[in-house]
Amino acid sequence: MRLLIKNGTLVTGAHVEAADVLCDDGTIAAITEPGRPAGRADEVVDARGLLIFPGFIDPHVHSRDPGQQEKETFAHSTTAAACSGLTTILEMPNAIPPVTDADTFHRRAAEHAAVAAVDFGLWGLSLGHENLDDLAGLFEAGAVGVKVFWGYALDRKNKRLVYNAADLPADEVIPPPDLGAVIAVLGEAARSDGLVAAHCEDPQILAHAGRRIGEITTYDDLLAARPAHAETAAVAAAIEAADLTGARFHVLHVAAARTVDLVRRARRDGVRITAETCPHYLFLTRDDAPAKPGMKVYPPIRSRADRDALWEGVRDGTITSLSSDHAPHAPQDKERPLGEQPAGMHGVETIVPLVLDAMSRGVLDPRQVARVLSENTADLYGIAHRKGRIQVGHDADLTLVDPERPFTIDEAALHTLHRRSVFHGHQGRGVAVASILRGRPLMRDGELVPGRHSGSLIRSRRADARDESRQTAGVRA
Ligand code: DOR
Ligand code: ZN
Repeated sequence: MRLLIKNGTLVTGAHVEAADVLCDDGTIAAITEPGRPAGRADEVVDARGLLIFPGFIDPHVHSRDPGQQEKETFAHSTTAAACSGLTTILEMPNAIPPVTDADTFHRRAAEHAAVAAVDFGLWGLSLGHENLDDLAGLFEAGAVGVKVFWGYALDRKNKRLVYNAADLPADEVIPPPDLGAVIAVLGEAARSDGLVAAHCEDPQILAHAGRRIGEITTYDDLLAARPAHAETAAVAAAIEAADLTGARFHVLHVAAARTVDLVRRARRDGVRITAETCPHYLFLTRDDAPAKPGMKVYPPIRSRADRDALWEGVRDGTITSLSSDHAPHAPQDKERPLGEQPAGMHGVETIVPLVLDAMSRGVLDPRQVARVLSENTADLYGIAHRKGRIQVGHDADLTLVDPERPFTIDEAALHTLHRRSVFHGHQGRGVAVASILRGRPLMRDGELVPGRHSGSLIRSRRADARDESRQTAGVRA
């Protein structure tokens, strides 16, 4: 199928320019000056007044599938992703069973491909010392990164996250990895040049602070039990560990101002470190807690000064990409008292409108949006050979944006299993009105298009390149 998108304005990390885009058989075939005939097309999309971005990517989605489908399913989370303007998501590994080795990776990829509405990559899970020998296999299978939950104990039975220390007795958990384990994981990943990303909260600081605070009943208690220095101490140690081992390290969901400073300095010093943050840290502060009891998340949402420093980090490129950290729970779980409620909130369907709203208000310019929602994300996770660029030969994944259209986030209109959002009622401007996945219309006006491509697995460049060279060698032999 040949699809022509004409009269639109292309946005990349470097440029904003009027151009027509011809997609042929799933990839981008030509980018031409507006009006110049690009070639015959089966379908034409008129993008007058619209910005054409490389398809948006959310690299941090917990779909809970399999194992906790009472919270979310992969079919729901990817449909929600598609309807909001994302074309690719990267799925976190902490389902049940978690993706801790190559066999599970392959099984999970097949299960997800059967129901995916958008393309997807898969994360692998590090269990510290327990699966060090499986990391090379995970990278070889095409995992986009390996995740360390540095700050969480895991349920020994099913490797589920333990959200509150009182939830399980100590002998039934795998304790959070210590620094020794994190360094070992980085050393192992460095041998595959694989990316390690971590939830960074130092477990010993959390344990100490948690003991001092005791029962958590107010949002101030929560902040005191998970202080900012738990994050910064872990990140400072990670910087040293990355430098020591030469591994690539990514700080997930940065919440504290000082972390931005640490990462900025380390990047200047040439350490291979990157960082992301999420809309809830950019749009909410502790002041919102009384009105939004569902905003309990780890690490916690902090002060206005933290929020402002995070925005500064996004603008100056210290924070290289954005993610939703979609971590859905059932409504009855989130309605429990603060100390017992699980951490995490819905986000996959609201990241795009919120970031576009920031763009419309001039907080980010369109090229920055292209970088943090697509280009840098694809580079970081090793999928830039197909995703994240509007470039001839790349997957024809595009998100079409009306920067002027107003929106109101309405829970009832969401596509996730439970329709919950702490951003319910948020009003803004800037809407993804259509998207294209591998050359076919995927979403129009917030709903899936009949006849679209279904989602398929995207593997890291290294895994794809290796198979390609094996094939070529096979042909020659
Ligand atoms: O609050 C959180 N919930 N933070 C995380 O990093 C993980 C997540 C989850 O999976 O529930
Ligand atoms: Zn997470």
